[in-house]
Amino acid sequence: MIPVWAQVCYVVAAVCFILALKGLSSPKTARRGNLVGAFGALLAVVVTFIAYDIGNLGWILLAVAVGAVGGALGARRVAMTAMPQLVALFNGVGGGAAALVALLELSEPARAGIERSTGFGDFAWFALLPGDLTESEISRMVEILGTGSLTATAFTALIGSVSFSGSVITFLKLQELMTGRPITFPGGPFVFGGVLVAALGLGVWTVATGSVTLAIVLALVGLLAGVLLVLPVGGADVPIVISLLNAFTGLAVAAGGYVLENALLLVAGTLVGASGTILTRAMAHAMGRSVSSILFGAFKGGSTAGGGQASDRPVRSAGPDDVAIMLAYARRVIVVPGYGLAVAQAQHTIRELVDLLEKRGVEVGYAIHPVAGRMPGHMNVLLAEANVPYEQLLEMDTANGQLRTADVALIVGANDVVNPAARTSPGSPIYGMPILDADHAGAIVFLKRSMRPGFAGIENELLFDPKTTLLFGDAKASLTALVTALKSL
Ligand code: TAP
Repeated sequence: MIPVWAQVCYVVAAVCFILALKGLSSPKTARRGNLVGAFGALLAVVVTFIAYDIGNLGWILLAVAVGAVGGALGARRVAMTAMPQLVALFNGVGGGAAALVALLELSEPARAGIERSTGFGDFAWFALLPGDLTESEISRMVEILGTGSLTATAFTALIGSVSFSGSVITFLKLQELMTGRPITFPGGPFVFGGVLVAALGLGVWTVATGSVTLAIVLALVGLLAGVLLVLPVGGADVPIVISLLNAFTGLAVAAGGYVLENALLLVAGTLVGASGTILTRAMAHAMGRSVSSILFGAFKGGSTAGGGQASDRPVRSAGPDDVAIMLAYARRVIVVPGYGLAVAQAQHTIRELVDLLEKRGVEVGYAIHPVAGRMPGHMNVLLAEANVPYEQLLEMDTANGQLRTADVALIVGANDVVNPAARTSPGSPIYGMPILDADHAGAIVFLKRSMRPGFAGIENELLFDPKTTLLFGDAKASLTALVTALKSL
């Protein structure tokens, strides 16, 4: 039994996790929220080491050191635009760890029992097929573990494995180590359905017998299910699946907490499961899509596929001097930042440009689309890095109101989030996604490098609008040229 002081510390850690989530819900308090959550996690780990009688301490500390150094280096070095893949990887190992813990937990009493009957010693649990045990040994094992605990163990092994393999595939897709397009094959839905039925059957069998071998097979089937779940998802939908798998990991960890009788794991896992589910729904909503169409849309040809060809239709382009004049003599300019701003790391330069415009008496705001960039809050984080005041960040509804009276919509590295196809083309993969109404502004300026489409891989009619001017080039170089041009006016 864990001592009372340790249980109190666990409650403190759980409260830290809740406060962390609360803090993370606003850019103003996100940094503090993150620190509070990290403190809760540290407290939980330290208390666990002190309160439990832990064997193999040296090995565990070595694993903790390897994980901590790898995690810290990975997180420090990763480019902001590659953050979703890092999150996928961290999430995947969390799910995999939960599955392994469940299998080991199941093997403990089983090994004790089978050692007695087979004399296989340490290797006993490899031999644990249901047939290896007598009826009475099986019922004794189920009795020791309890049906509830066995169900939670099977659930953790299955869902943790799904999360692990699914996250690895999302990582490979986003890191462009494999195609980002949906991968489908004839009969795919039936194969996936068959794997789910097999998982269900194996799960029930595992609970009925307490067999470790069956639980291992269940985890392997879970790995296959994770791969099959994510392969048909492509392009812009992948980050949403990462969030869904994150919720899966949370549920697996929560079930693991039940197995280990550890209330903190139960609370932390439930929080991750709930927040991951809410985030998945919010992202799907912001893209105007249902979670099921994101997961299975490719089978009906409805996934946002990514890729796409550059258009060669004529457009109007201009140099920095002409664009600087447009901006300098405007009354109101609304900046629409997107993924390209993050790629170019031009957040400080856009801030400099906006400061100059404000000095000239131009009213400027930033229109923030909830799925601009590649992860939730991407633009908020990016602009916060450049200390852009929060009051200048306009949520979509406010921004759309202001775009109607804006003289210029300055679109910096954004594309899909202003694409009118979302309103007008029912066949388009982004149809139904609420967009920023940049087309309602008096004039539109795009800062991009080429005529290539955005992440959804579809042409943007707004580029060919008579009100539109394109300033081609890397966003940072173009913004620097605009700053120079503005200063000389
Ligand atoms: P995108 O539609 O992907 O457009 C990005 C634009 O930036 C492209 O037109 C690209 O054109 C330009 N660009 C790239 N690098 C640049 C650079 N160095 N300098 C200047 N321009 C550059 O981005 P968005 O409008 O932000 O939309 C986000 C997309 O991601 C949406 O489809 C959304 O559904 C999807 N998505 C987002 C999330 C979250 S949570 N944010 C989650 C899931 C999906 P060039 O190549 O011609 O320069």
